Amino acid sequence: MSRRPLLILDGVDKRYDSGEISVSALRGIDLVITRGEYVAIMGASGSGKSTLMNILGCLDAPTRGHYMLAGTDVAGLDDTDLAAVRNRFIGFVFQSFNLIPRTSAQRNVELPMVYAGIKPRERAERARAALETVGLGDRAQHKPSELSGGQQQRVAVARAIVTNPAIILADEPTGNLDTKSTGEMLDMLDGLHRSGRTIVLITHEPDVAARASRVVRLSDGRIVSDERQAVRGAA
Ligand SMILES: Nc1ncnc2c1ncn2[C@@H]1O[C@H](COP(=O)(O)OP(=O)(O)O)[C@@H](O)[C@H]1O
Ligand SMILES: [Mg+2]
Repeated sequence: MSRRPLLILDGVDKRYDSGEISVSALRGIDLVITRGEYVAIMGASGSGKSTLMNILGCLDAPTRGHYMLAGTDVAGLDDTDLAAVRNRFIGFVFQSFNLIPRTSAQRNVELPMVYAGIKPRERAERARAALETVGLGDRAQHKPSELSGGQQQRVAVARAIVTNPAIILADEPTGNLDTKSTGEMLDMLDGLHRSGRTIVLITHEPDVAARASRVVRLSDGRIVSDERQAVRGAA
């Protein structure tokens, strides 16, 4: 597998300004993530983890510095191009699942492909296959409220992978799950990693971070450690 840089943050600052108050959420972040890495981002609440994820996911832009995604400086892109890059390269998984209520699992998983302009028939087939991959082939017509938390998060994973993105960004994906569902979620991420996906996982749980091949720690908007570790994922 090639080891080219996929994500490069160079001197990134993020400041939130609201009226009199200014918060420096990220300060001088330099980070290079290569294709196929599985990186856990750790840090206390308020240390800047979600801000970092929003920038990596092109949901927000740095106040200073550069972000290169797959060779493109995203600072130069307008909102339309940014959305296209996001759709092409990135699949998101959030702590709160972020599924559309009163809409079937199947339809939730189809949505990213609607934005990508894929035809209905292919959308349906690919959504079905993604739901099979996460073990929910028999729940395609269920609405989020008819599924357990663990199942809802699996629908979210199916939605994240259905466009075949190179990168999975997961912000505390196990934060609302019980122990069993947490284990299933981490096994799924291991599988995606083995199949060549680049994974960036935000967590404050050491057991969860232990599954990654690299752990980056944030404190007060700065990287305070960056260590590689032996992968301890399920066989
Ligand atoms: N939209 C926002 N407006 C103002 N301040 C924010 C905003 N989002 C985050 N912050 C602040 O930035 C800092 C980092 O927040 P965040 O990235 O959410 O940290 P974490 O995910 O590690 O808990 C915190 O001090 C937080 O209050
Ligand atoms: Mg957060």
